[in-house]
Amino acid sequence: MKKERVLSGMQPTGRLHLGHYLGVLMNYVKLQEEYECYFMVANLHSLTVFYPNYRKAHSFIAPLVSDWLAAGIDPEKSVIFVQSDIPEHAELSLILSMYTPVSWLLRNPTYKEKQENLDKDIDSHGFLGYPVLQAADILLYEAKLVPIGEDQLPHLELTREIVRRFNHYQQQEIFDLPKPLLSSFPKVLGTDGRKMSKSYGNTLDLAESEESFEKKLMQMKTDTARVRRQDPGNPENCPVFTYYDHFGQKDKNEIAKACRTASIGCRDCKANLFSYMKEELRPFREMRQKAEKDPSFIENILHKGAMKAKERAQKTMIKVKEALGLNSRYTFPA
Ligand code: TRP
Ligand code: SF4
Repeated sequence: MKKERVLSGMQPTGRLHLGHYLGVLMNYVKLQEEYECYFMVANLHSLTVFYPNYRKAHSFIAPLVSDWLAAGIDPEKSVIFVQSDIPEHAELSLILSMYTPVSWLLRNPTYKEKQENLDKDIDSHGFLGYPVLQAADILLYEAKLVPIGEDQLPHLELTREIVRRFNHYQQQEIFDLPKPLLSSFPKVLGTDGRKMSKSYGNTLDLAESEESFEKKLMQMKTDTARVRRQDPGNPENCPVFTYYDHFGQKDKNEIAKACRTASIGCRDCKANLFSYMKEELRPFREMRQKAEKDPSFIENILHKGAMKAKERAQKTMIKVKEALGLNSRYTFPA
């Protein structure tokens, strides 16, 4: 049986952190066993914000891909590629934009939110059309499933609306309706106990040096009831404890008990956690070093990925152009 296709994308906006790893990357890695996966660096999407100086975003591509590889995304199993290497994204996006009423884009919640929150002027045509480009990403590979976070659901719904409208005018089912695949890992907390996010400056980065990782972890807030070493704590009020859901999981129950009875101090608790994290994150540091030493390593992977992606994308474009009649001969009307 043919495997169903999955596509997901990530913008190159900076280094990946633990939140990305637990919430997104681990999910990607699992999916590649069951599906034909396309993992895309959404660098054209990042242009919506990085337009004054795109080079900065470009420099985040290699580190992003290096983190993917370190997490276990395997270029032999999945297609790893950069969006702008496949011009068909722009081409399909333009065509789909003709089937997308502006009113749909204006009421897109991420459009309103970002415009209000970002200090940068992003009042551009491209930013308004962001979800159309995302629809093109998905449809170009005829992906059935799209792993995304909850914040991206409106974009997937828009993709579905565009598909319905496009199919309606073609009077054929050119595209199937893609479905979201929500990841199940709960929100990962940052060093200050709020949601881990680059904008809060509370991240633990995957490829971060051991020293700096350890320092951040050791300074992290714990249950505020544990003022002194002998005060019992409640792991449920402790952001550090949430990491035990993944790292050192087998110690989790014991640690919870020891915390409640104050038989363990926060320093020991964190040191124990760090020993697990250090082990698991080692490939991220090693991959980064390897990729930095030999730039052609990542470039080769992306080159191969682009060739595979291109082949798939071109099939879809032929189908779309045939449906519209865009590739028929230039003859006089009958
Ligand atoms: N908009 C997505 C984000 O910021 C990134 C993205 C671009 C994407 N194209 C995609 C995600 C296609 C899924 C499918 O997270
Ligand atoms: Fe948190 Fe561990 Fe300290 Fe308990 S002992 S408050 S779980 S860091």
